[in-house]
Amino acid sequence: MHPTPRDTTLALGGEAFRRAGHELVDRIATFLDTLGEQSLTTAADPAAIRAVIDAGAPMPDQGSDPEVLLRETASHLMAHSLFNGHPQFYGYITSSPAPIGMLGDLLAAAINPNVGAWRLAPLATEIEKQAVQWIAELIGYPRDAGGLFVSGGNMANIVAFLAARVAAAGHDVHAEGAGAPGAAPLAIYASRETHTWLHKAASLSGVGTERIRWIAVDETGRLDLEDLRAHLARDRAAGVRPLMVIGTAGTVSTGVIDPLRDLAAICRDVGAWFHIDGAYGGFAAAVPGLDPDLAAIGEADSIAIDPHKWLYAPLEAGCVLVRDPAALRRTYSHHPVYYQFDAEQLNYFDYGPQNSRGFRALKVWLALKQVGRAGYAAMIAEDIRLARQLHVALEAHPAFEAATTSLSITTFRYVPADLVATVAEPATAEYLDALNRELVERIQASGRAFVSNAVVAGRYMLRACIVNFNTTAAHVEALPGIILPIARALDAEMRDG
Ligand SMILES: Cc1ncc(COP(=O)(O)O)c(C=O)c1O
Repeated sequence: MHPTPRDTTLALGGEAFRRAGHELVDRIATFLDTLGEQSLTTAADPAAIRAVIDAGAPMPDQGSDPEVLLRETASHLMAHSLFNGHPQFYGYITSSPAPIGMLGDLLAAAINPNVGAWRLAPLATEIEKQAVQWIAELIGYPRDAGGLFVSGGNMANIVAFLAARVAAAGHDVHAEGAGAPGAAPLAIYASRETHTWLHKAASLSGVGTERIRWIAVDETGRLDLEDLRAHLARDRAAGVRPLMVIGTAGTVSTGVIDPLRDLAAICRDVGAWFHIDGAYGGFAAAVPGLDPDLAAIGEADSIAIDPHKWLYAPLEAGCVLVRDPAALRRTYSHHPVYYQFDAEQLNYFDYGPQNSRGFRALKVWLALKQVGRAGYAAMIAEDIRLARQLHVALEAHPAFEAATTSLSITTFRYVPADLVATVAEPATAEYLDALNRELVERIQASGRAFVSNAVVAGRYMLRACIVNFNTTAAHVEALPGIILPIARALDAEMRDG
């Protein structure tokens, strides 16, 4: 006999859950099937968006019917969102979400394990551990590395940064803080193309952004090794210690891979912690023969890598791997009386800044099992192939100037025919920057495609990044034709105005 349920407005009985859930799953299935036919986004102004939920309304005193609530909310979200799974979505580095990950998140929430400690989440902890090991395997990193899931690339990099700081400090940073009297000065070495997580890491850690040595890049955007060596030598002579040297596997703007093999060798020589930000491009190491520098991933002391980018996990899922698991424990392990767990098991609260932790690993683990190594290698390779195809098409197109293509990012701009001859002249260059800056806005507002921007060699470019298994060759082929009329109309308008 079932006990009489408590009188609560939040619990749903099995029957009500089934009804609401089935309806929602049906809606989502149709949404996924028809996504490519819909507008990519609504061009509604912020006031109209806020009106959808009556944004100024006070908190309701009484509740409402959960089925109706879910139905209405699904309708609103499906009508008023930016759909990064749309096949014409090429913005930032946001992937199409894997459907199995959507269902995995539902399952994870239903079980609701607290993956902070093994005892609180026995199977979930083992699943996370296996997912972390498989990610390491996929990219050629040691399987016995320490690692865990975090919210995304920023956090993954920050978790590694703090571990490197503890390792480099030479004093008890936990007790004495970053600026302890007599502490050896530290410096971080990173190219100017490094993602902005580094600003946050340096400032939040108390190390300070002034301790970042911004290393020059060559004309392709790769870190300049001579400049790095010069900075390291100058600092060494002045008694400044390296906190970490950072190489990026796939820069955020143009997808460039730093000379990771040489960076690994330099770090070995000078005894510096070698960190790779592979948030975007790290998974490209799964594609055989793509770039020899990706093979140096295995030599890094730590790497940040984002399943919510190139494993197509629904947001959020970042992952950090640290060669020496003890480095994570030395940084994050604190054991107050109310947090004592089986020491012989893996307790993730020892490895990172969170105590209570959700089951992010499930959606990633399910997808890894669903498609396997070969499936991921093929999908990532196809994204890269499509970005190159776009570059070739733009090179051949008289209205566009193709700039760069690396990994799955292609940059380009619209150049009106009568300006081709004078692109290098300052007045034309300035006009093209303004034109293409506004063009990004217009394309985004059109709802037909979504590109973001990059600055390449000082010039404003449109940027298409493909981490999207819904995008096909036909979509890529159609993109110049979608952009062209928007660009022509804008050019005419700007010249008139
Ligand atoms: C190279 C690189 N590092 C870090 C990040 C930050 O990742 P997240 O947005 O998941 O925090 C990004 C995001 O695009 C990135 O491209």
